[in-house]
Amino acid sequence: MSHTHIQIVLGIDVGASGIKGALVDVQQGALVSERLRLPTPQPATPKTVTKVIVELVEKLEYDGDVVGCGFPAIIKKGVAWSAANISKKWIGQDVEALFSEATGKRFTVLNDADAAGIAEMRFGKGIGHEGTVILITIGSGLGSAVFTDGHLVRNTELGHFYLHNMPAEQYASNHARKRDGLSWKEWAKRFSEYLHHLDRLFSPDLVILGGGGSKKWEEFHKHLKTKLKVVPATLGNEAGIIGAAWCARPEIWRTTAVPPRAHQRI
Ligand code: BGC
Repeated sequence: MSHTHIQIVLGIDVGASGIKGALVDVQQGALVSERLRLPTPQPATPKTVTKVIVELVEKLEYDGDVVGCGFPAIIKKGVAWSAANISKKWIGQDVEALFSEATGKRFTVLNDADAAGIAEMRFGKGIGHEGTVILITIGSGLGSAVFTDGHLVRNTELGHFYLHNMPAEQYASNHARKRDGLSWKEWAKRFSEYLHHLDRLFSPDLVILGGGGSKKWEEFHKHLKTKLKVVPATLGNEAGIIGAAWCARPEIWRTTAVPPRAHQRI
């Protein structure tokens, strides 16, 4: 199998419980291979996670030159600045350099929720949306991507403002739901509180829900109490893979007729 075409890029989404990867057609914003999911090793240290990244590249028989990777931390110029749901050993680690050296591919690494948001703005619910758009990923944590008139404000970490004396993600993530044995209806009550605070702080024009939890949209959306416009991500939990792959191939988006403003390197 040969995947050398410039349009096909490997996208990886590192999560607290699973590391997912697939080949992506970055022009169409769609997966063109199976989506492979390997369990995140525990503890998820630089050493153990890198091993899984190498395994993923090999298993997908990827022979392209670049890889895009969403990572669950604050990422500046490829370096991790935080580690909420992964080993603290990541802080200060150059994730891009580490994965690039181990695989021989050129990695572009960015925050996982930013990657998902970029995909939704380019290929999903956010297309052409002006004003303030916020994507929230619902998973082990709560990730966020904030766009104003199509421009991304990176590393916003809106899962970390305080609600009931704890970081919001410890109160309203899918992990919190499971930990506290809540039904989706009960969880929706908590998440509505979270949305209320988002509204007070940002007055978003649109809120897109992504991450693994968004697959349960049918079960919880009728229980949400909010005046905000809230929609499920078009690309679901694949948005992170697609957005990361897309970011790794600037040759494609720099030449599109309407330059997407979502991804600008800092
Ligand atoms: C991390 C974020 C990440 C989110 C979703 C949070 O705990 O701080 O960086 O985007 O989880 O994975």
